[in-house]
Amino acid sequence: MKIQVNGLHMNVEESGSGQPLVLVHGFPLDHTIWKKTAQHLSPYFRVITPDLRGHGASDAPEGIYHMDLLAQDLLGLFDALHLEKAILAGQSMGGYVSLAFACAHPERLSGLGLIVTQAAADAPERRAGRYAQAQQVLTEGVASLVESMTPKMAVSSTARLATRRVMLKTSPAGVAGALQGMAERPDRTASLAELRMPALVIAGGADPIIPLERAQEMAALLPDAVLKVIPGVGHMPMLEAPAALARAFIARFAK
Ligand code: MLT
Repeated sequence: MKIQVNGLHMNVEESGSGQPLVLVHGFPLDHTIWKKTAQHLSPYFRVITPDLRGHGASDAPEGIYHMDLLAQDLLGLFDALHLEKAILAGQSMGGYVSLAFACAHPERLSGLGLIVTQAAADAPERRAGRYAQAQQVLTEGVASLVESMTPKMAVSSTARLATRRVMLKTSPAGVAGALQGMAERPDRTASLAELRMPALVIAGGADPIIPLERAQEMAALLPDAVLKVIPGVGHMPMLEAPAALARAFIARFAK
């Protein structure tokens, strides 16, 4: 279904009932990546999977998608769905957005899930690379960026191909907006100690994009965190190990 939030049409899907659990995809992906995981979770939770602006079937306005702006869109989603509180969990860029939301609106969260993500900001060379990629995507399209990302996304070739298919559908405006937004995200490491809601930190044991140490650091600094490392899994645990990922959420958050 489409809802109107923060001046845009946001696409969002729902399944199950119970405690609300909002799952936020990473870059440049969409809500469909959660399908298998949501099947495992929907007996326990009301699972809500939005498409961030610029991704999936949500509008893709031009401009920089700062993580705070994407978090503001999610606040609009919470309000539109009358979610007084929910568990919010995000993968990679979805985790950057979830952290931005947790810092701005901690009172709206009953739990926080940080999946293959980090609190750290980009190093200067990574930041410069993102601006260059954004320009390239706007002039040449998304294909060459997607081809360079695909081998790093997942260990299994099936998950890699599924990820590639979703990435190729993302518009140049969406990809460029997110790249620039990620480049400009602040380091949130110092804020972790303030985030008192129950947290679950998930790492892929074979993720070449976000090293395991980033997850260990976050889990050590968050006041109430559980760390779960899923062995042999890359950057797409929701496709590579949906049952294990769901089990971790059920163990941590189901009442
Ligand atoms: C993602 O998977 O969301 C991005 O690759 C994260 C990043 O580039 O920092």
